[in-house]
Amino acid sequence: MEINKYKEDYPFFKNNPEVIFFDNASTALKPKCVIEAVNHYYNDLCVNAHRGDYYLSYKVDVEIEKVRKDVAKFIDCEENEVAFSSGATESLNLIAEGYCKKILQKGDEILISELEHASNVLPWFKIAKETGAVIKYVPLENKRITVENFANAITPKTKVASFAYISNVLGYKIDAKKMCEIAHKHHIIFVLDGAQSTPHIPVSMKDLDCDFYAFSAHKLGGPTGVGVMYGKAKYLQDCDPLVLGGGMNKVIEKDGTYTVYNSVRKFEAGTPHIEGILGLGAIIKYIQKVGFAYIQKKEKELRDRALTALKKMKHIEVYNEDNEANTIAFNIKDVFAQDAASYFAKYNICLRAGQHCAKLTDGVMNTYASVRCSFYFYNTIEEVDKFIEVASKGSDFLDAYF
Ligand code: ALA
Repeated sequence: MEINKYKEDYPFFKNNPEVIFFDNASTALKPKCVIEAVNHYYNDLCVNAHRGDYYLSYKVDVEIEKVRKDVAKFIDCEENEVAFSSGATESLNLIAEGYCKKILQKGDEILISELEHASNVLPWFKIAKETGAVIKYVPLENKRITVENFANAITPKTKVASFAYISNVLGYKIDAKKMCEIAHKHHIIFVLDGAQSTPHIPVSMKDLDCDFYAFSAHKLGGPTGVGVMYGKAKYLQDCDPLVLGGGMNKVIEKDGTYTVYNSVRKFEAGTPHIEGILGLGAIIKYIQKVGFAYIQKKEKELRDRALTALKKMKHIEVYNEDNEANTIAFNIKDVFAQDAASYFAKYNICLRAGQHCAKLTDGVMNTYASVRCSFYFYNTIEEVDKFIEVASKGSDFLDAYF
């Protein structure tokens, strides 16, 4: 039996020994160090940030700013380019609303794709409606965004382009660096949704040169409700906050005038998600200790084994056998995706089914819904073998189910 040394870092497995968790693209499990970091805040600190003139409050400030520094190192950017948010969704809304809306005029074009998560579609729909800008989709090639199709989709009116670095259903990775280079030649703001890339591949803002990047802590195994918005300092200057309140303003006058900090603090109104931020710091350190080389090797091993087996099953249709990521999107033929997921759940295998918050992607796969299996480095070959065994029985779905 394979010993996955990382499993013992996860209390989840001890508390749920029967469960096979293959829904990691939705959220990752939390290692002890994250839970300890959250508990450390509640046990040892407990006080507010940026507000108290006493030692404990100072200590909270120092710990938060240390995480900002660690995030900056993790994604290779400057500290003053890292704003904490509630997650990738809020970050993308902030980028669209706070910056991009200001540069758009009637008839300008926003380029996205049909592979995007709702959080990288709806904020653009909203600001397009408000500004009179137009949403354009990069035509896909074998379900992928290619550099060539991206370049060809650009017109003199294209002002913003926003894509998932790795798409959440099909797991296709774009050539973000090349696309960003092309975008900049045309003075286009290039935004990357990093929700599905940050947990699995090393990312460097300096190398990619994207203008904005968004990710959530929980998909790496950090706490829910916290994430990051990266923006190039020159754009953050002109980016307006989505939320106003305490901790981000400098001066408030009775006549209605006010000024806000000229730093990432302006995006962090209200009491921060302190325990979440400390948990984010813990998961970053943990992931760095595991290392992306191991993460990628393990995910590939698990995915290749599952995929090889699924491809031999005539009753299974796989939609993304050529992807680069940790996900397999599939259906049991003639079985509704959510019924198939319930069937797997009967064997304690957690998969996600439906439209995966990416409703436009179904059209790309030519199906109404799909089942998604997504791995992380703490999964094991034994778990994959159990999944394969259960999948193989699904050919006579109703017999297997009842
Ligand atoms: N964005 C998450 C997913 O793809 C929830 O499942």
